[in-house]
Amino acid sequence: MTNEHLHPETLAVSAGRPAHTAGAGINVPISLNSTFVAGGPINYGRTGNETWQPLEEAISALEEAEETLLFSSGMAAITAVFSLLPHGAPVVASHEGYSGTMALLKRYHAEARLEVRFVDITDTKEVLSQLQGAAFLWVESPTNPGLGVAEVAVIIGEAKKRNLGVGFDNTFATPLNQKPLTFGADVVMHSVTKYLAGHSDVILGSLSTKDPALHARLHDVRVSLGSIAGPFEAWLALRGIRTFPLRFARAQSTAAALVKKLKSHTSVSNVRYPGFGAIISFEVKGDAVATERVCDGATLILNATSLGGVETTWERRRRWERESHSVPENLIRLSVGCEHIDDLWADIDSALKKA
Ligand SMILES: Cc1ncc(COP(=O)(O)O)c(C=O)c1O
Repeated sequence: MTNEHLHPETLAVSAGRPAHTAGAGINVPISLNSTFVAGGPINYGRTGNETWQPLEEAISALEEAEETLLFSSGMAAITAVFSLLPHGAPVVASHEGYSGTMALLKRYHAEARLEVRFVDITDTKEVLSQLQGAAFLWVESPTNPGLGVAEVAVIIGEAKKRNLGVGFDNTFATPLNQKPLTFGADVVMHSVTKYLAGHSDVILGSLSTKDPALHARLHDVRVSLGSIAGPFEAWLALRGIRTFPLRFARAQSTAAALVKKLKSHTSVSNVRYPGFGAIISFEVKGDAVATERVCDGATLILNATSLGGVETTWERRRRWERESHSVPENLIRLSVGCEHIDDLWADIDSALKKA
């Protein structure tokens, strides 16, 4: 059976398994090797690792990619993409997005390393008007933390018509909600740290593509930057990916139900939810101090950054110096995990009341 006929739930469980050989382990071993006997497919641990490949295959299967490369973090993967662009290349990117990506793009722009045209990625007209003469479009949708949604198929299609390269951060939506390569994106990036690994115990990134030439260039970047994954991290993420569709489906349905409850809570305003995924942003009726009190006041929910783990976390995003000042001081980003909804709601309601 080929991958095309299998559902994502099945691919997550079966992709990247060792061959079904009598007596063989059904899981991939952790390959702790920096060097390999000459003459085989891998010579040195910075160019390849037997534990990366099965995870790369599993992510490729989920994203409908031909090839995936693991990186030491999501940011290492993003840096690899932008390192392919020539000096001064015009890039169209959202003015709201993951603060690490924003900081990188702002720095590259300030140094004239890239000419970044920051746009409201949810405003298709504005995006299209900036594509003219640009070399590359970088999309994050939904955006972090405002949860704005771009017209993904339209802007990718228009960018490709104008011969731009397109990169897509699919961390929030995950391939269970959208597969940007199928809309024509050239490269899809994940912070594997989040839903794919899913247990808040690894930092990893990935880049997936259908284009063998682009894959080869990104592979060269990974080798020369040395931004490689640790074998144990890769193994943990592969174990995590086996349950990713289950965890994500559960978190997503809980998030949709929590949105309804939050919308009718008297201490909450401006609940943002794109209609899919498991991240909700909302504002507390109060100032930054009151919002911090809410985040500290839960007993189950952890006041912690990052997202996509089995455990529910939340944080006041503006506690970070580098978060965009367009994000309200009283905005909480909630990453819904796999606990029971009644327990989560009781915790949220009690934290809001205490504050
Ligand atoms: C949407 C998004 N993209 C990229 C990253 C960066 O990933 P990493 O922390 O694995 O480097 C993050 C991290 O929070 C993120 O939320």
